[in-house]
Amino acid sequence: MLLQGKKILIGVTAGIAAYKIPLLVRLLKKAGALVQVVQTPASLDFVRPIVLSTLSGNPCPSEFSSESGDWNSHVDMALWANLIVLAPLTANTLAKMANGLCDNLVLATYLSAKCPVLFAPAMDLDMYAHPTTKKNIDMLKSFGNTEIPAETGFLASGLEGEGRMAEPETIYKAILAKFSTGYLDGKTILINAGPTYEAIDPVRFIGNRSTGRMGIALAEEAAALGAKVYLVLGPSAIHVENPNILVKRVESAKEMYTLCTDIFPEVDAAILSAAVADFRPKNQSKQKIKKELGAADIALEMNPDILKTLGERKQHQVLIGFALETNDEIANAKKKIANKNLDYIVLNSLNDKGAGFGYLTNKIQIIDKQNKIYDFELKAKTELAADILNTVFQHEV
Ligand code: C5P
Repeated sequence: MLLQGKKILIGVTAGIAAYKIPLLVRLLKKAGALVQVVQTPASLDFVRPIVLSTLSGNPCPSEFSSESGDWNSHVDMALWANLIVLAPLTANTLAKMANGLCDNLVLATYLSAKCPVLFAPAMDLDMYAHPTTKKNIDMLKSFGNTEIPAETGFLASGLEGEGRMAEPETIYKAILAKFSTGYLDGKTILINAGPTYEAIDPVRFIGNRSTGRMGIALAEEAAALGAKVYLVLGPSAIHVENPNILVKRVESAKEMYTLCTDIFPEVDAAILSAAVADFRPKNQSKQKIKKELGAADIALEMNPDILKTLGERKQHQVLIGFALETNDEIANAKKKIANKNLDYIVLNSLNDKGAGFGYLTNKIQIIDKQNKIYDFELKAKTELAADILNTVFQHEV
């Protein structure tokens, strides 16, 4: 698990977005983290401690002493934490932090901490744009704290603009990045994913059942390990929101080819997991083809092989392809390593239940160019993403 045993303290202040913090606690717990939440007294109007203590598995104090008379030691909590996250962070608490004020448990904990601190501002757009707020944010950053910038969208005031707390998933990813083991720090990786759609006319296309899930999991994991990731993504329904992933949306194999070949020279590695359509209609009708014309034959032509092209142009890059075979899997995958000049190939099984397109799980084998085979159990694509990156990069990068 990505955050196994990591001690994370969340300081909640009095913003409406506090209602989203239970979701963040859930994500952290699922990733194996130990979570302690502390609230400001004013935040109790927005989220109740019973929710946060139940989900975190720890009491959620908001005062220096509990009703039973025990001391809720801000010093102990601050020194326990490997990471402190202030979310949502109001303009008021932000200003107090910038100036060293310490009139509640959250502020006292922050001031006692020695670990890294992330903060996610949340306020109305004019408050966020105010020069005082900007100055206070800059001041917090100058102390070595990391901002998770507010996002643009609907605000509780009814106005729309910048100031909304980053979504729990975005905060979670910022936390993952903080705990990155760093073996991909400073590396740039190109990943492609998803199906491609090959237009017959403006309405119809030839496509396939790929969801993009495996490649997206790889992109997320690589970003969490510190890499800068280019994700060239075909028409997948999955939305990718990660500050360390540059998502380039494409539709056809031709568009995917152009982007991948453009980006390839500047990367350290490329992982081609996309289910690129092998053929496209030779002619694309500008208008919707009328059914009154009767069933037409669709003449096809080959799409360029992106992976093969990158293999031909490869210099310093580590190149990883995927293969989905129905027979003579290993022999065919080995041939592909040679034909496409790959360093590794990830072989997907179609013979195992729960593996392949549309599933959250997959079963893979990785083969390297010396024909060494690495076997993996059927498991979640997110876990396999970590296995693939560990296998490939701990050796090569
Ligand atoms: O040759 P085959 O299609 O089985 O190889 C699969 C691998 O090649 C995958 O990594 C896939 O992304 C890539 N590929 C490609 N361009 C194509 C077809 C496949 O990059 N036109």
